[in-house]
Amino acid sequence: MNGKFITLEGGEGCGKSTQIKLLADSLILKHIETITTKEPGGTPDGAVLRQMLVTGDKDKFDAITECLLYFADRRIHLQNLVWPALKQGKWVISDRYADSTKAYQYFGYNKRIDLSVLDGLYQIVAGDFKPDLTLILDIAPEEGMRRSFSKAQGMETKELRFESRDMEFHQNLRKGFLEIAKQEPQRCMVIDATGDVETVHTRIMRAIEQKFGV
Ligand code: TMP
Repeated sequence: MNGKFITLEGGEGCGKSTQIKLLADSLILKHIETITTKEPGGTPDGAVLRQMLVTGDKDKFDAITECLLYFADRRIHLQNLVWPALKQGKWVISDRYADSTKAYQYFGYNKRIDLSVLDGLYQIVAGDFKPDLTLILDIAPEEGMRRSFSKAQGMETKELRFESRDMEFHQNLRKGFLEIAKQEPQRCMVIDATGDVETVHTRIMRAIEQKFGV
């Protein structure tokens, strides 16, 4: 595949969505054909799954059901959107991907599910395919949750199923993302997500330049 697959990851309120827009705009200015997408819900069918996953009672699904739904969304996303775009040479930036499953469904829930289940599902759904670069936006959960709740005030449907989990969950999540970055340093870069939007964007562009030379 000719294009590049870049994923942004992080806990609630880390600023991914804002940073993705800025990153895409900067790449387009460099004449790189770029599209942005997200998980869950990057495709019309995935949007139905997203609705199920991010609203409602926090305990409505067990960890296995949740993983299966995220991986179903992922398979639709890869087949219908990500892989065709990469084949056309486009750069695809995704707001979350498989590291979120590991961080939320494994580390967040205090390892309630076996890691081999997640790795097995990943193999079935994506094979050896991996992001070219994963940027992990790191922020203290207290600050992230504050941002996240103030953003949700303006939303018609409140996507707060995960925000309603306790602080321990969010601390585990942060540790999980940092652990993933430590295990795969060639693919993952940790970005300090504190500070204003422009400062974080500059850090991200520095990482892009370092990795791809653009
Ligand atoms: P978002 O709010 O960043 O768009 O993400 C939607 C929610 O889904 C967020 O709370 C994280 C969660 N999530 C998982 O728990 N596992 C996953 O695999 C993915 C992609 C997202």
